[in-house]
Amino acid sequence: MNAIAFTDVRKNYGDVLAVDGLNLTVEAGRTVALLGPNGAGKSTSINMLLGLVRPSGGRIEVFGHLPDEAVARGEVGAMLQSGELIPELTVMELVDFVRRLYPRPLDLDEILKMADLSDLVKRRASKLSGGQTQRVRFALAIAGAPRLLVLDEPTAAMDVESRQRFWASMRDYAAGGRTVLFATHYLEEADENSDRVIVVAKGRVVADGTAAQIKAGAGGYTVSFTLGGQPAAGLDALPGVSAVEVSAGAATLRTTDLDATVTALYRGTSLEIRDLKVTGADLEDAFLALTRES
Ligand SMILES: Nc1ncnc2c1ncn2[C@@H]1O[C@H](COP(=O)(O)OP(=O)(O)O)[C@@H](O)[C@H]1O
Ligand SMILES: [Mg+2]
Repeated sequence: MNAIAFTDVRKNYGDVLAVDGLNLTVEAGRTVALLGPNGAGKSTSINMLLGLVRPSGGRIEVFGHLPDEAVARGEVGAMLQSGELIPELTVMELVDFVRRLYPRPLDLDEILKMADLSDLVKRRASKLSGGQTQRVRFALAIAGAPRLLVLDEPTAAMDVESRQRFWASMRDYAAGGRTVLFATHYLEEADENSDRVIVVAKGRVVADGTAAQIKAGAGGYTVSFTLGGQPAAGLDALPGVSAVEVSAGAATLRTTDLDATVTALYRGTSLEIRDLKVTGADLEDAFLALTRES
């Protein structure tokens, strides 16, 4: 059963193509990260998924229904990128008010516990810190016990500790077999908190898999050494090498076949190699390479 299906979805704002032929499906029960730089089309995709923005083309289904229908059935909860709380209400009043709007809400205590708000029930919304406000917004998103929870950059404006607590709350909620889709431009967040990472850039999917698969697919290794005044000609023809950069007497090679490149460097050239360093691609490199190529 698919929780989410995008088929050839496009959205343009005048000349700006915010989403450019998006195809993806998310199986029910998964936690998926939509990872991409600012302007990649994450929020536009999420807002279309929630029925808040109409696609210019293509089709979106949520549990086999149109977004509007799924939302009306109380199957979807969301934390949008912006949104104010009612300042004069207390945390408990707000959460209880919202949960009563749904046909089958979670228990009040369960929501407060899951969102880590038990100590803040009497606090007025106007007195909450940035991280606390995000936790209340999370509580409102889960109040109706949605099967699909959608979070658009939920940890913006949180410090490191608040972030950790937030992701623990999210994982608690997801653990009951629910589906979570969250947008982020933080690689570590995608890596640590999802089963699958969908990388988007310029409105398209540029990679899709586990964080490990994305590292392997876009990564390879970097080999660098001191070249001094020796000629760099021929380095780009070594086996496995996909890019060569020479600056200030240092050569940096990107390779997809480390063993072949290093062997050829020593045996197949007459260069004197000093200070050889090898670094594996991390997710950051993979992400930058992927979003640059697109
Ligand atoms: N309401 C809008 N009107 C015009 N352009 C928009 C609007 N919303 C988004 N865009 C543009 O669409 C592109 C994608 O934006 P967005 O979906 O917000 O990306 P992200 O959430 O990944 O940062 C950007 O170029 C943005 O400027
Ligand atoms: Mg956004």
